[in-house]
Amino acid sequence: MGHTVNGTTYPQLYVHAQTAQLRCLMTTLCDKHSQRGDWVFTADRVNRIMVEFALNFLPVDPVRVITAVDDEAAEGVCFAGKIVGVSVIRAGEAMETALRSCCRNVRLGKILVQRDEETAKPKFYLAKLPHDVAERHVLLMDPMLATGGSALTAIGKLLEAGVKEENIIFVNVVAAPEGISNLLHRHPKITFCTAAVAEGLTQKCYIRRSVGDFGDRYFGTN
Ligand code: PRP
Ligand code: URA
Repeated sequence: MGHTVNGTTYPQLYVHAQTAQLRCLMTTLCDKHSQRGDWVFTADRVNRIMVEFALNFLPVDPVRVITAVDDEAAEGVCFAGKIVGVSVIRAGEAMETALRSCCRNVRLGKILVQRDEETAKPKFYLAKLPHDVAERHVLLMDPMLATGGSALTAIGKLLEAGVKEENIIFVNVVAAPEGISNLLHRHPKITFCTAAVAEGLTQKCYIRRSVGDFGDRYFGTN
């Protein structure tokens, strides 16, 4: 299990299978000529795929059910424990609809962290989390991981609020090796799910040959 990036194996890093569908969708996201409507539609599809993928890492308990056809017992599983989605504003908010579609009535926390456009350093503004967040499994949502600074800041706030590191599942779309290394060396117990591991960063700390500024493209502020 796990995934190797630049010679280092991270047991807690899970990269979605590079299916034809996912590769087509990622190609549309990376294309600077994609029309805005197509880009947002495609981002929603990738976000849904990644939320579905990440849900596989929640714990399950065994259950017995009585089947409809013959009233016989059958062994199955159901999700164990409580969850909460936490989006890193803004781009992470684009994943909320996917999570709401999969988990009825899911609670949603928010953490506002913004990268400085010149220095790429994260600045923390606000965290709004449910009062019992410490007892929950957290699906932390942000489609982009570049330097890892924003994710480290968000995870720091979750840990301050009492969330157990091993109860954090980071739901991501594109991750740069620099960010993966920063994040997973500091927080080896989190689970990290992504659709793509990128080549690296540009001089301005954007992800090379990737989707560009996700938040700007999704919300139309580019
Ligand atoms: C983007 C992205 C991540 C962060 C990744 O957010 O959504 O939060 O940058 O970069 P890092 O790993 O180097 O910290 P940004 O601050 O640009 O805000 P936005 O979501 O409003 O676009
Ligand atoms: N944030 C983004 O949205 N894209 C990048 O390439 C880096 C940070």
